[in-house]
Amino acid sequence: MNASFYEQLLDNASDVIWAIDTEGRITYVNDCVREWGYEREELLTQPLLSILNTKLIGKRENVHTLLGISQIHEMEIVNKRGESYTVMVKSSPLRAEDGAVIGMIGFIRDVTKTHLLEEKLKNEERLASLGRLAAGIAHEIRNPLSSIKMNLTILKKRLRPSLADLEHFEIAQEEVANLERIVTELLDYAKPITLNLRWQNLHERLAAVLASLRPVLKERGIKVEFKPDPAISMALFDQGKLHQAMLNVLLNAVQASRPGSTVIMETRAGEAEHAPLQILVRDFGKGIEPDNLKYVFDPFYSTRSNGTGLGLSVVRNIIRNHNGSVTIESEPGAGTTVRLELPAGLAG
Ligand SMILES: Nc1ncnc2c1ncn2[C@@H]1O[C@H](COP(=O)(O)OP(=O)(O)OP(=O)(O)O)[C@@H](O)[C@H]1O
Ligand SMILES: [Mg+2]
Repeated sequence: MNASFYEQLLDNASDVIWAIDTEGRITYVNDCVREWGYEREELLTQPLLSILNTKLIGKRENVHTLLGISQIHEMEIVNKRGESYTVMVKSSPLRAEDGAVIGMIGFIRDVTKTHLLEEKLKNEERLASLGRLAAGIAHEIRNPLSSIKMNLTILKKRLRPSLADLEHFEIAQEEVANLERIVTELLDYAKPITLNLRWQNLHERLAAVLASLRPVLKERGIKVEFKPDPAISMALFDQGKLHQAMLNVLLNAVQASRPGSTVIMETRAGEAEHAPLQILVRDFGKGIEPDNLKYVFDPFYSTRSNGTGLGLSVVRNIIRNHNGSVTIESEPGAGTTVRLELPAGLAG
C-alpha cells in the first residue's frame, strides 16, 4: 500500500483525525475539518484548541492536561461558522520508535445527532411510563367512582330532596360524570391500539367527522371549509380511529378560534410518487407560543380550564400506529396548522 492510500483512508473517515506535537500544535489533520469551515492548511502548526475553540477558551489549561493522557471526553465546541456541536474527543499519546512521547493523536466525533436521538428516546420512555402510571390510577378510581354514582342515584330517589337540595345532587352527579369521562379517556389512551385497516373513501370519512361536529360548530359560530384534493379517493385506514383523531384535531381548532371565524380542512395527495398523503387542519385562532409547542403532545398538557390534555397524545398514538406522523406549526395570534401524514402506500 502506498502513502496516498492511507491518506485517502484518513480523509474519507467520518471523524476529524488529528495529531499534535508536544507543544499542542497540530502536525496533522484530515480533510474532515472542511465540514467545520476550516482549511487544513490554516490549522497546521496552530494549537489544537483552534478547532476546539470559543467555548473552551476559559478551560484552556484544563484541556491541555486532559489531552496529556489517553482518554475520551465529551465537550461542546463551536466551529468556524459559529455553529455549536457536541463532540467526543479521544486522544492517546503518540510515541516514537524508542517509546518517547512525541505528541498526541486522536479523533473528534460529532455526536450532536446521537444526543438528540437519545433525548427523544428518553422523552418517549418518560411519556410511556407516565401513561402506564395514569392508567393504573384510572383503573383504581373506576370502581369506587361507579359506587359513588350508584349511591348518589339511590339517595336522590330515597330522600326526595327539596328543589334546593336537588341542585346539590345534580352538581355531584355532573362531577362524577366528568370524572368518569376522564377515567375512560385515560384508559383509552393507555390501551395498546389494534387497528382495523380497510381501504375506504377518505373524504367520506372526513365529511362524517364534520357532520358529527355540526352542533358544536353551530354553538360556537364557526364554519369549516373542506377542500378535498380530487386526486385522492380510497385510502387504507382504521375508520373509528381516524375519526377520533380528526375529531380531536378539529375540536382543538374550534376551541382556539373566535366566533365567526373559519377553520380549513384540506387534503393533499403527495406530488412525488411516494410522498405521503396529507390531511391539514388550519385555524386562525390564538395560536401556540413557541416555548409551549414542544409540550402539546405530552399527555395531560393542557392550557384549557376544562381540558384533560389527552387529545393530541391520542392523535399522535393513532397516526403513528398508521405509520404516519403529526406536525404542528403555529404563530401566536395568527393561527395553527396541524398536518397529519399517512404513508404513500396508504394513498388511493
Ligand atoms: N389549534 C390549536 N390552537 C391553539 N392551541 C392549541 C391547538 N391545538 C392544541 N393546542 C394547545 O395544545 C394543548 C393540548 O391539546 P390537547 O388536545 O392534547 O388537549 P386539550 O385540548 O387541552 O384537552 P382535551 O383534548 O384532552 O380535551 C391545548 O390545551 C392547547 O394549549
Ligand atoms: Mg384537545
